[in-house]
Amino acid sequence: MSEGTYYPVAKTADIEQGKCKAFHIDGHDVLIARTKTDDFYAVENLCSHADAALEGGRIRGNHIMCPLHGARFSLIDGSFGPPAWAPIKTYTLRVEGDQVEVLITGPLEKKARGAMGMF
Ligand code: FES
Repeated sequence: MSEGTYYPVAKTADIEQGKCKAFHIDGHDVLIARTKTDDFYAVENLCSHADAALEGGRIRGNHIMCPLHGARFSLIDGSFGPPAWAPIKTYTLRVEGDQVEVLITGPLEKKARGAMGMF
């Protein structure tokens, strides 16, 4: 099994503090978030509640709020609050100098939407 590849995604200056930006990386829709305390995180850009993009959501501490219905996700481990019903994927991220890089380890796993009565 592949250990993955770090993809250079953006310069640190491309993402303002307290904001996030979406990128398409080798088949993965990844959201890079920069907190107001200058930490960078990478999560999937897809809310588990109703498949809305998380881009544009507010960053509060180490969490992102879905812009559609307000579900709150941890940027650290993808854990969630209602109305979401499942965690989101997180990615390993590193900052090398002024370059933000995301580790992609394989093909994106398809989620079984609808398993919790979501249609
Ligand atoms: S789509 Fe994200 S909370 Fe509903």
